[in-house]
Amino acid sequence: MATNNQTALITGATSGIGYELAKLFAQDGFRLVIVSRNEATLQQVAEDFKQLGSPQVTTIIKDLTQLGAAEEVYQETKRQGITVNVLVNDAGVGEYGFFHEVDFSKDLEIIQLNIITFVHLTKLYLRDMLAANEGRVLQLASIASHQPTPRLAVYAASKAFVLSLTDALIHELKDTNVTMTALLPGATDTDFFRKANMEHTKAAQEDPYDPAMVAKTGYDALMKGENHAVAGAMMKAQVVLSNMLPNELVSTMAEKYMLPAD
Ligand SMILES: NC(=O)c1ccc[n+]([C@@H]2O[C@H](COP(=O)([O-])OP(=O)(O)OC[C@H]3O[C@@H](n4cnc5c(N)ncnc54)[C@H](OP(=O)(O)O)[C@@H]3O)[C@@H](O)[C@H]2O)c1
Repeated sequence: MATNNQTALITGATSGIGYELAKLFAQDGFRLVIVSRNEATLQQVAEDFKQLGSPQVTTIIKDLTQLGAAEEVYQETKRQGITVNVLVNDAGVGEYGFFHEVDFSKDLEIIQLNIITFVHLTKLYLRDMLAANEGRVLQLASIASHQPTPRLAVYAASKAFVLSLTDALIHELKDTNVTMTALLPGATDTDFFRKANMEHTKAAQEDPYDPAMVAKTGYDALMKGENHAVAGAMMKAQVVLSNMLPNELVSTMAEKYMLPAD
């Protein structure tokens, strides 16, 4: 893909995997639209991306858990005359704890961000990409997409939704020049665990993956138009196992990583 005048819109580009992805787009000369909640952080990382080679970085301050947020982001890019050639749905949150103990407001936040806004942003920008018959979409799924996960149940279910929708859309897009790629990280060393109140777990403490490595795996797969990207041999093996074993066993396996690290 020639990147002259190409624009990538990345949600969650201020931290973790999204930040590392945005760096790769910047290095390849993409213009960027970055979306998250914190104005100061957005301004700060926008400077990083310009230094790395992005000719233009547009910041949109938006809480993507709010109803209508996706439409507002879309209208803002329209208003500024920006054509989005690549959409990266990265922003996502989780919450640790037994389902019956976690506040419903937290469940709603996860569902609103990881599912509702994800669906709406995908729909809005995909329509324009299909009209132009060109574009790429990267969807942040997870190893949890394949693993019903006790103590992280709503999050894992939201990521199963992300993967299921993405796989169906990959099929719908097969005769077009628009591609969609799901990135399925395993536990990755970002701020995710602190925000989800699960820093004490084995998942957070037992050698999580480097976000730069995870982002590079996703970026390369996106640019090749591949369907799925899984970083690390261990995670590839877990995907195969999770697809073979009954969900009861997969959940038992997944729960081990949710226990406190010794
Ligand atoms: N880390 C892992 O182990 C792991 C594994 C598999 C999949 N993933 C997925 O990877 C994606 C990125 O996560 P990460 O690990 O990089 O987490 P992170 O470091 O916590 O980054 C999350 C990003 O999303 C933004 N964000 C969060 N809530 C938002 C909201 N309501 N509105 C707008 N932006 C919001 C954050 O910015 P602000 O807070 O400033 O708004 C931040 O830029 C997520 O979809 C996550 O589910 C992570």
